Amino acid sequence: MSTDDTTDTTTDASTDTETKCGAASTPDGEAAASEDSSSKCGGSASSTSSSGSSSGCGASSTDEEEEVGATVDDFDADPGQLVAVGLGPGQPEGMTARAREALLDAEHIVGYTTYVELLPEGVREDAEELYDTPMCGEVSRTEEAIDRALAGNHVAIIGSGDPNVYALAGLALEILESKGATASMVEFDVVPGVPAAQSCGARLGAPLVNDTVSISLSDHLTDMPTIESRLHAAAKEGFTISIYNPWSRKRRANFEKCCEILEEHRADDTPVGIVHGAGREDERVEIVELGDLEELGETDLVDMTTTIIVGNEETYVWDDRMVTPRGYESKYDY
Ligand SMILES: C[S@@+](CC[C@H](N)C(=O)[O-])C[C@H]1O[C@@H](n2cnc3c(N)ncnc32)[C@H](O)[C@@H]1O
Repeated sequence: MSTDDTTDTTTDASTDTETKCGAASTPDGEAAASEDSSSKCGGSASSTSSSGSSSGCGASSTDEEEEVGATVDDFDADPGQLVAVGLGPGQPEGMTARAREALLDAEHIVGYTTYVELLPEGVREDAEELYDTPMCGEVSRTEEAIDRALAGNHVAIIGSGDPNVYALAGLALEILESKGATASMVEFDVVPGVPAAQSCGARLGAPLVNDTVSISLSDHLTDMPTIESRLHAAAKEGFTISIYNPWSRKRRANFEKCCEILEEHRADDTPVGIVHGAGREDERVEIVELGDLEELGETDLVDMTTTIIVGNEETYVWDDRMVTPRGYESKYDY
């Protein structure tokens, strides 16, 4: 799935590969002119907030791929540090103490604009530099964070939930490797956060206490036939399913196909929990039946800040909570 594609506002191929931290960039790494073409790394320690230009995710007319620019040999400074930090669902109190500490320790914080805006006060003010990109551009944003670290800065790259769940931790390691750097060189670390499935599960009661599979409906990085085949397997095998990136205008057909597959394997009255914006100001929580799910795709309850949890064959609703039995009832009397 796309790593950070919480919007469906897709445009042309990425153009935000602009800053290379003072290192010489190869022409391949450069794209079209951007809003701020100055280097952010190794520069002054003024408290600034800068934005990269927007980039597309999944709707590129040219299918142009972002390519990494500077390699490790282009940096003269002793490397700094790079930490991937998960913010959790959104509100400051949903962030772990360790994540907050990691953000306060960082000199530069790099992330998608929405997540930079979600940073608690204190963290924003404390950072020497904030660098955000408004949408997508995951590769160039991650490279930006890496280049800043290779240039000697202590950098945090942030995302919602957990950095290991459809997020940038893996991409950071891949790009470090492609630059001829190592993870140890920048003391690469991952600070976990509460993933959306878990924060949404908590709003719904206890739907996730047995074997669960997460599936993203974003076909930006995984093709739709593969997504469909994974949905079939998970639904057929009786897993509870957490569905990420469920609906966008461009992915309406993916959502419809998903509902069709689920209905093929599960009863119409299977409980389905829908959580929009967990932990955010616009949070909404509803428990519906699988047979009603598809039509909800056309409402503002289901969009790219929604996670859907589809119960397994044993999940039931009790007192407005989803309950998935763990299996204790088959061994104990209560
Ligand atoms: C690119 S994935 C990032 C997942 C994130 N790393 C995590 O651990 O939750 C984005 C998707 O996560 C889900 N999501 C993220 N934040 C959410 C929230 N506050 N409430 C509900 N779903 C959320 C949505 O399905 C969204 O489309």
